[in-house]
Amino acid sequence: MQQLLDRMKKDGIIIDDNILKVDTFLNHKVDPKLMKKIGQEFINRFKDSYITKILTIESSGISPALFTAYDLDVDMVFARKKKSLTMSDDVYQTEVFSYTKKETNNLIVSKNLINSDDNVLVIDDFLANGEAAKSLANIIEQAGANLIGFGIVIEKTFQSGREKLNHEGYRVESLARIKSIEKGNVYFY
Ligand code: G4P
Repeated sequence: MQQLLDRMKKDGIIIDDNILKVDTFLNHKVDPKLMKKIGQEFINRFKDSYITKILTIESSGISPALFTAYDLDVDMVFARKKKSLTMSDDVYQTEVFSYTKKETNNLIVSKNLINSDDNVLVIDDFLANGEAAKSLANIIEQAGANLIGFGIVIEKTFQSGREKLNHEGYRVESLARIKSIEKGNVYFY
């Protein structure tokens, strides 16, 4: 998606050979016009699928997921990393390990929000090692719902995420694909 690539080139900040900071339009400050375009692009990529729900993970997945859900006219659910005060014990729960942050989080979704009739599209901001994506797939499996595939805003192809998801037979569509980050440069496909 050219508009996203242009924005990454303009505003992305290289933290090291693994991490691109995109805090000015996706991860901290959010550009709604770009998110709207991203939502439309996901809908276009998955136009052959019947989607009844969008699932993402807090916090940075919420913006692209919400714009996609809005234009599809379906609900968006975000998995929480911590159980909120108002949640009952009737939840789907799984663990996710972050290689980037070297920490394990819980992922929690109330059981009444996804059911076995749902056709779920997962949206997330980054695909790195695929751990978050696999955990969301696990929650969809617990719900007995149908997983349509993964819509990813930025994929880092030099990490193992896509390989893991394709190995499981899942469809993955990403809007920007980073080939490598080397010596202060980002290389895209
Ligand atoms: P994985 O799920 O694919 O295995 O990825 P990983 O554990 O490595 O990622 C952990 C967190 O770091 C995720 O955010 C992910 O979006 C983010 N992340 C991974 N690579 C990059 C990168 O190159 N740039 C940026 N900006 N973020 C990256 P999170 O912990 O869920 O945070 P948030 O959603 O609350 O913002």
